[in-house]
Amino acid sequence: MSKVAIVYWSGTGNTEAMANLVAEGAKAAGAEADVLTASEFDKSKIASYDNFAFGCPAMGAEELEEMEFAPMYDDVEPELGGRNVVLFGSYDWAEGEWMELWEERAKGAGLEVLDTVIAKDYPDDDAKEACKKLGERIAAA
Ligand SMILES: Cc1cc2nc3c(=O)[nH]c(=O)nc-3n(C[C@H](O)[C@H](O)[C@H](O)COP(=O)(O)O)c2cc1C
Repeated sequence: MSKVAIVYWSGTGNTEAMANLVAEGAKAAGAEADVLTASEFDKSKIASYDNFAFGCPAMGAEELEEMEFAPMYDDVEPELGGRNVVLFGSYDWAEGEWMELWEERAKGAGLEVLDTVIAKDYPDDDAKEACKKLGERIAAA
């Protein structure tokens, strides 16, 4: 059974809801899944997991949240070369450019980005389904 870390930051709960749906999908696919906030995760925890899902909304100007998520992610990304990850997050007024930049960055660092899911504000039914499928995907990787 694979063990998945679902690590997220969420200011108003939208990305948190996505994280819980990713976990639901991963568990339904038979994986063990831990949902952790950005401040609960660091490099020392990487070895405890097989695969990773990272979630962060669009913040700043199409950027990752800078106080908690980005420092954690900057620290762990160099340790995750060759590992399977999926990325997710919520946005509002733009068109998801932050996720394109994030995916490009992660691939550039050597991560195997299997898929990404973005949701405008709180995930609607389609986005909920996409989050569960994202969990299934990372569980099976
Ligand atoms: C400080 C701040 C910066 C934001 N920057 C962007 C942005 O660059 N692009 C965008 O589409 N939405 C932006 N948003 C909107 C959030 O991404 C959106 O509200 C999202 O649903 C928040 O997710 P959360 O509930 O997980 O915190 C920003 C929101 C805040 C508070």
